[in-house]
Amino acid sequence: MVKVKDHREVRTFRGKVSFFGMGTLKTFAFLWDGNLVDTGPGTLERKFLPAFLDSPVRRVLLTHFHEDHSGNAARLQMEMKVPVFADPGALDLLRRDAGLPFYRRYIWGKRRKLEPVPYGEAVDSENGRLEVIKTPGHSQDHVCLLNRREGFIFTGDLFVTPGIRAAMRGESVPEIIRSLKRLLQEDFETLYCAHAGVVEKGREMVEKKLAYLEELSERVLGMHRQGLSSREINRKIFGKAQMLDYISLGEWSSRHIISSIIKG
Ligand SMILES: [Fe+2]
Repeated sequence: MVKVKDHREVRTFRGKVSFFGMGTLKTFAFLWDGNLVDTGPGTLERKFLPAFLDSPVRRVLLTHFHEDHSGNAARLQMEMKVPVFADPGALDLLRRDAGLPFYRRYIWGKRRKLEPVPYGEAVDSENGRLEVIKTPGHSQDHVCLLNRREGFIFTGDLFVTPGIRAAMRGESVPEIIRSLKRLLQEDFETLYCAHAGVVEKGREMVEKKLAYLEELSERVLGMHRQGLSSREINRKIFGKAQMLDYISLGEWSSRHIISSIIKG
């Protein structure tokens, strides 16, 4: 089931996928003024798609290329003949079917190729505009979409939780810190997150995440200066490897948090 709920002028779509019997992961898509922000994963196509087809979607705006955000974009483009916007850095990737490791295909499903349109500075629609703010770190093509007039923002995977215990290979904590700081230059209160949903005290939560990551970076760099190896630092801060580390064959691991901080 996809739960459809209106939050002020934003329609929220919430789906859940099961995670190897260890629990569920929530995933959200949002619709404001004809702009569908993210499309959910392919594994939920049969649930998300009818809800999207029932709504006045005029265009799709991707926060980044990951398959849990872009999984239904190709199908939507085909069915509804709507443009799919993405960061210029993601266009080549999106033009190809995604080659995903097994665990990601299992959880999120396939991502089919599509013909994306590059973002400009903003996306204008009938009743306003969403400004495109580049926020790399989680992925290189990550963007947030700000409604300056109404004071809300779509943040994709930039926020998700205030603290983290794992990062994806290629994620950069220093870059995420810069992106969070960039976001805090803007005036917003409500945040629409692709996994946490509606976050009313959005600004406060972004500040919290920034403080957590800065403090974590200080700790890591302090230990690094004392001569501890990445492995030792990881063990001291995060303890034993988590299940996710094994399931993803190391693609998701606390090690990537430590190494990106040291590298940055
Ligand atoms: Fe992501």
